[in-house]
Order: sequence, then C-alpha cells, then structure tokens
Amino acid sequence: MTDDLDAIRQETEAALAGAADLRAWDAIRVAMLGKSGRLTALLKDLGALPADARRARGAALNRLKEALTDAIEIRRRQLEESALAARLAAERIDVTLPPRPLPAGLVHPISRTMEEMAAIFGAMGFAIAEGPDIESDWHNFGALNIPAHHPARADHDTFYLPPERAGAPPPVLRTHTSPVQVRTMLHTPPPLRVVVMGRTYRADHDATHSPMFHQLEGLAIDRDLTLGHLKGCLIDFLRAYFGIADLPVRFRASYFPFTEPSMEVDIGWDRRSGELGGGGDWLEILGSGMVHPKVLANCGIDPSVWQGFAFGMGVERVTMLKHGIPDLRPFYESDIRWLRHYGFSPLAPAMLHEGV
Ligand code: PHE
Repeated sequence: MTDDLDAIRQETEAALAGAADLRAWDAIRVAMLGKSGRLTALLKDLGALPADARRARGAALNRLKEALTDAIEIRRRQLEESALAARLAAERIDVTLPPRPLPAGLVHPISRTMEEMAAIFGAMGFAIAEGPDIESDWHNFGALNIPAHHPARADHDTFYLPPERAGAPPPVLRTHTSPVQVRTMLHTPPPLRVVVMGRTYRADHDATHSPMFHQLEGLAIDRDLTLGHLKGCLIDFLRAYFGIADLPVRFRASYFPFTEPSMEVDIGWDRRSGELGGGGDWLEILGSGMVHPKVLANCGIDPSVWQGFAFGMGVERVTMLKHGIPDLRPFYESDIRWLRHYGFSPLAPAMLHEGV
C-alpha cells in the first residue's frame, strides 16, 4: 500500500539532489506540494477511501509529506549556500592588485603663483582683499590721483563701458588692482596690511600682453612706515617667491600718480642664459612707492597721522620668469598639453625657499 509512496519519496529526493539551482528546486516543490501537486492530489483522494483504509493511508501520506517538506527545506538551504558561495567567488576582489591610475587635475600656474603669493604675504601679516572687475572711474583713476585728462590715463589702454547716465563718467574694466587699495582704505580703519590678487584689463594683445591679465597689489598703512619697510618687504617677497636667497634687488626712482616717492623694482638676471640671480643684468618686475598723501586723504585717512607703502606686479610675468614660460597667450588657451606640462600637482605644497 505504501510502496507507491516510497517510490514518490525516492523519486523526489533524487530530483532534489539533481536540482542545480533554486529555480529547478522550486519546480520540484510546486510539482509535489503545490495546489495541483502530486502529494496534494493524493491527500485529496483520501476522502474517497473507507474509514479504516483512510486512517492508515492518511498517516502514511502525512509521514511522506513531512519527509518531503524536510528534504525540500534542506535542499533549499544547500542551494542558497552554494549560490552565495558562487557569488562571493565571482565578486571576489584582489586587494593586492595595484590601483588603476586616476586622472588627476593640475593647478594652473597662475593659481599656483597666487597661492604662493598668499602664503608669503600671509606669513608677513597681510590679509587678502578683493574688489570688483568693473570699477567706477573714481576708484580706478580719480581717487588714485589720476584726474581726467591726466597723461597717465593714456598708458592704461582702458576698456570703457557704457555710462549709467548720459554725461556720467563711464565705468571701466579695472586697469590695475590699485582701486582695491581705495576700497580697503575706505572700509578698514588703519593700521592695515592687505594684498590683492585679481584680474585686470587693458586693450593690448601680443606675446607678452593679454587684454586680461592678473596683478598682485599690496598696501600697508601704519603710523611710522618708511621706505625701508617697503624695501625689506619686497626684497623678502622676491627672494622667497623666486627661491633665491641672495637674489639681487634694485630700487629705481620712477613715477606713479598715486605714490610719492615711486620706485620701480628690478631683479638681477643673466640676459644671455635667461637665468635669474647673478649675471649683472636687470629685469624690471614691479612698481611701488609710498602712498601719496592725496590718495590717503581721498580715502578718508589723515595723512598727517598715517602713511604707508603700496606695490603692484604682474602675476603672469613673475610666473613666466620663475618657470621659464616663454609665451603669455597659452595661459588662457586651456590647451591640455600645455596645462600638463606647466601645471602643478594639487597635493605638492609650494616649495618656498627655506631661511628667506
Ligand atoms: N598700479 C600700478 C600699475 O598697474 C602698479 C603700482 C601699484 C605702482 C602700487 C605703485 C604702487 O602699473
């Protein structure tokens, strides 16, 4: 009477053993225990048997059902375990492999120079100031003692913008960072020390001039600042920036409307080799001077109490000199080959000359 049930059991166990994955396993489970499964059908047939036979057959069917349920459950666990093991093996990563190289961006030489400038002047106690690229005539010229029709205006090849009202002086793209001197003095009570790094604009374009370029401006105001402080500050900066501890620095009398006296600053180099330092030749590098009393007064600072010095230099120019970059134009062309060649690793700190 139970022979057929033993056969079903053996058959099912064999089928379960042969099930390669959970899908095959599920098909076997449904074929046996599902709503129209084989065992379910046998259980339904029970009702047709006489009471005696039904008891014995029912007990046998229940044992079979228990056995099959156990076998099915055991096989499910086995299959799940081997599926997990296969997945772990397939997704295994070899942590000893070298990493794939990640494409790393580089710092543009202009940014690098400005970082170095900020670091050197920061160490000397200068804060960083900023101002807008579009300036009023007064900030860019008037307050700096360059009135309308002053010949210095002609040097600046200014980009003028449409005036706000007919007859008003047109706003300009700032021709230098010196208007930020004015803004700083108007808003910061002295003593003060700031540097400004930013874009400037002049209508000029060739291998050494760009209509947009960058300047570094410096301004220090205190009660007793002298030309000696100006010289010491700039000599220290130039030697630290170029990394040449004994870089020759020369101060040459000059003229700017907003400083008195004014000095242009030259550094020593060798004209033939292009090398900075010794060599006996001089290279003009920046403009400087003691802030003109009229400029102090224009900015609300009493020139009988306060005085100070200011300086300005081209960021591109000192970058080209330091790194031997011959042409100005590629600075703004975003040519990836140029950037790879002249760019700096963002992770390498600025190597400033020790002991300067
Ligand atoms: N603003 C001047 C220029 O652009 C440079 C300068 C700045 C000179 C500060 C003296 C003092 O040429």
